[in-house]
Amino acid sequence: MAEKDRTKWNQKYQEKPVLLEARPPSLVLENHYRQAPGKHAIDLACGSGRNSIFLAKHGFCVDAVDISSVALSSLHEHASDLDITPIEADLDTFTPKEAYYDLAVMTNYLDRKLIARTAASLKPQALFVIETYMQHPENEKQDSNPDFLLGEGELKTLLEGSFEILHYVEFWNEPHELYRMRKQGIVGRKNKL
Ligand SMILES: C[S@@+](CC[C@H](N)C(=O)[O-])C[C@H]1O[C@@H](n2cnc3c(N)ncnc32)[C@H](O)[C@@H]1O
Repeated sequence: MAEKDRTKWNQKYQEKPVLLEARPPSLVLENHYRQAPGKHAIDLACGSGRNSIFLAKHGFCVDAVDISSVALSSLHEHASDLDITPIEADLDTFTPKEAYYDLAVMTNYLDRKLIARTAASLKPQALFVIETYMQHPENEKQDSNPDFLLGEGELKTLLEGSFEILHYVEFWNEPHELYRMRKQGIVGRKNKL
């Protein structure tokens, strides 16, 4: 799977360099990052790093993980002066450092098992910000793999138990994205032990 994903995403970034251009960070992240208890962050499936760059510019030390060497090279090129460590890894098997991070962010990517592994990588009171696409009859792209689309209200159930939900929202995505799609966003604060 990993090798297929790497090839697919490297090709996508090479064919559509617009995807590597500077973009605004996730609004859900922008509105909530201040509530993180410290400055260690991880950006899962960071792409060219819009969220990593935003966090690093606000004083965070960021581990930026992605399978695409093309996306990570672009991130390095645009942000070599910032405290960002690019990590080329397959998130199907990658396990982040345990009880280490104050904030984890995962946008426009869905791996339900990774969400559970990431919960273990957060310190008590740390934030988990997730924002990604959901099933909707009016989504412009109707051929997306349903495994990678959230069901109604699903993000809340994925964080239930280990997190206090600080914010939950469903919305139409931003105009800079390629297709108009419905999304969910959530901010959870990890429970104290
Ligand atoms: C739609 S982009 C999202 C990029 C970024 N999070 C954002 O919101 O702008 C999805 C990213 O997931 C990465 N990806 C896909 N499969 C992966 C895997 N198995 N392991 C790590 N990264 C993966 C791709 O390389 C791509 O950069």
